Amino acid sequence: MVNILIGCTGSVATMKLPQLVSGLLVLNHPQIKVRIVVTEHAKHFFDEKDIHTDAEIFQDSDEWAVWSKRGDPVLHIELGKWADIFVIAPLDANTLAKIANGLCDNLLTCTARAWELSKPLIFCPAMNTKMYQHPLTVTQINSLVSWGYKHVPVIEKTLICGDTGAGAMAEVDTIIGVVESFIT
Ligand SMILES: Cc1cc2nc3c(=O)[nH]c(=O)nc-3n(C[C@H](O)[C@H](O)[C@H](O)COP(=O)(O)O)c2cc1C
Repeated sequence: MVNILIGCTGSVATMKLPQLVSGLLVLNHPQIKVRIVVTEHAKHFFDEKDIHTDAEIFQDSDEWAVWSKRGDPVLHIELGKWADIFVIAPLDANTLAKIANGLCDNLLTCTARAWELSKPLIFCPAMNTKMYQHPLTVTQINSLVSWGYKHVPVIEKTLICGDTGAGAMAEVDTIIGVVESFIT
């Protein structure tokens, strides 16, 4: 059994979430389970009905819905314990900055902040070329790499905003290949 947690942020590349989920679920490995944690902005870029029904989706409101008193589960801790692999795809500039600096103000960033460093965390940045070229980006990516997280670099293409250049999320097949390398 391999439990894969996908984190999705407010990047247009979240439109590829259905493809990523389905691709992971058909990997030739027994009993892959997938859960998804989304930011509020990520929710703009997909429709729940397009996501494979085996993949449960968690959002910020769930964190507080399951906790009311001492002894109740704390969702970001439970998701971290459940997952063997955490794949943040896409990782937008905002959440990259938060994770690099230790901020934890939503379900995704709390899960990342509490992530056990001994388990794989794969991150796939996605942002506009101008954001990507800002010196903050490489500094923040290097922080995550220094903690042992696996970086799946952006690719160059014409982005949704019309600009052409580096910043697009890696292809879904590339991301699935990296996840698979951690499973086998
Ligand atoms: C249509 C649209 C597309 C966006 N795409 C990206 C993107 O690919 N990468 C990025 O870093 N921010 C992108 N943003 C900006 C983020 O959604 C914004 O920074 C947001 O605050 C991110 O919140 P989150 O990190 O909590 O998901 C986009 C915004 C809009 C309106």
